[in-house]
Amino acid sequence: MKIVFATNNAHKLMEVQAVLGDAYTLLTPRDCGVTEEIPEEQETLEGNASQKSHYLRDRTGLDCFADDTGLEVEALGGAPGVHSARYATDGHDFEANNRLLLKNLEGVENRRARFRTVISLLLGGEEHLFEGIVEGRIIDRETGHEGFGFDPLFIPDGYAKTFAEMTTDEKNAVSHRARAVRKLAEFLHSIEK
Ligand code: IMP
Repeated sequence: MKIVFATNNAHKLMEVQAVLGDAYTLLTPRDCGVTEEIPEEQETLEGNASQKSHYLRDRTGLDCFADDTGLEVEALGGAPGVHSARYATDGHDFEANNRLLLKNLEGVENRRARFRTVISLLLGGEEHLFEGIVEGRIIDRETGHEGFGFDPLFIPDGYAKTFAEMTTDEKNAVSHRARAVRKLAEFLHSIEK
């Protein structure tokens, strides 16, 4: 089955393809001729995921899904949350985002944080939402070179290393996005039967 996934991020594509398995061929927006940035202008993860999947479906006419993720830090009242990608700058500057996060947590004892992903799937014109959460904590300096985004600063509960020190398989065992994608995969499998 071919399905469009609203990302041009190679890391994300690899993570999601690994969870969904070979039964699904993931197409990127670029594969479908959509080269402009897909708008995400809402104030919630649900709103953004939904806006992106509708935008892609309208452009391609194909079944598609989009995800939106935020890092929610307890001591910062849930920030950066839906603004995670543009926390420090207008662009997706991961290093600047990490620097700002560390600065905002300087001297703060409570390091609790969680990643939350929402997926919006548009299938045959109907929308389905799936959520995945991983709880953990923010450490005080970047550690590890794998992954992307806030991975070098986040240690999931039950582990002694950051997401950036894990292989794709290890990260997929617990990550927010993998949890949401597994729910998506279970749903797709259930309607095939
Ligand atoms: P997006 O909605 O998936 O693009 O995520 C928004 C922002 O959250 C990204 O630009 C990253 O900074 C951060 N983010 C999302 N997923 C992850 C992840 O798996 N690890 C680390 N940071 C992430």
